[in-house]
Amino acid sequence: MILFKKVADLHKYLDTQREIGMEIGFVPTMGALHQGHISLIEEARKHNSLVVCSIFVNPSQFNDPADYRKYPSTIDSDIALLENADCDVLLYPSVEEVYPDPDEKSHYELGYLETIMEGKFRPGHFQGVCKVVHRLLKIVGPDNLYIGQKDYQQCLVIKRLLELMGMKDQISLHIAPTLREKDGLAMSSRNARLDAQQRQIAPGIYQTLNLVRKEIKPGNLQLLKEKGMNHLLEKGFRPEYVEIADASTFLPLNEWDGSQKLVVLTAAFLGEIRLIDNLLLN
Ligand code: PAJ
Repeated sequence: MILFKKVADLHKYLDTQREIGMEIGFVPTMGALHQGHISLIEEARKHNSLVVCSIFVNPSQFNDPADYRKYPSTIDSDIALLENADCDVLLYPSVEEVYPDPDEKSHYELGYLETIMEGKFRPGHFQGVCKVVHRLLKIVGPDNLYIGQKDYQQCLVIKRLLELMGMKDQISLHIAPTLREKDGLAMSSRNARLDAQQRQIAPGIYQTLNLVRKEIKPGNLQLLKEKGMNHLLEKGFRPEYVEIADASTFLPLNEWDGSQKLVVLTAAFLGEIRLIDNLLLN
């Protein structure tokens, strides 16, 4: 694997690779890699001649400074995992490389996608995600982009970004399923920050999502969402939301006629660690 710290060097290298007909698959990450990330690399490996991963903890998407400061960093083991997964190129840039002009302003028209759920509880988060993903896509110029369903709302935001930037015909978006620990906890870099007791409680999120999946039926959904919130509270979480939405439009639903595809989504704190997860319901 070739490691690039300088954006210009990577750009030059990828130009030469494109010229010789390489198809580029790209997996953006913030590092502290786990098997979930590696499943995206493996998917990219299957369908591309050149696989590029980026590790960049993007300050502009953290609405909580403490969360940014405490974001886990495990670069040596990340590199070993990527080499093992046969990744070709790693971009590991500094903040200055990604954002050479710190005053540059950007705004992406995301509409209701950034006013509900993650958008509501993490103001500015998706603007930061768009800013960095847009920049990374301009640097890497991939044919295929791989992201995880674990961050369901982020998938819709990135889809919208590709449309907004006129990139949707050049870059195919691929959404990969969520990888889980044996007890159902969705793999996440933030899991490393859970203490032993929190780690025991954490699968309660998946259990709550499954409870909603089991009990969903046409009609009013309000009571079931409340039941999900209470289930999390009883297990020791501080839940922010349990929401049921149309799986394709992402509009939250209070009534269901039994026909639309649904997704249930949640965010909940254990101590100061915020976890998110979601499950397709039908
Ligand atoms: P990060 O949280 O590091 O995740 C990188 C990619 O891995 C995302 O597409 C995410 O959805 C996917 N992923 C995370 N956990 C997963 C799991 N358990 N199973 C499958 N895929 C999983 O998401 C980000 O970074 C950032 O917002 C980023 C897109 C890199 C922009 O900074």
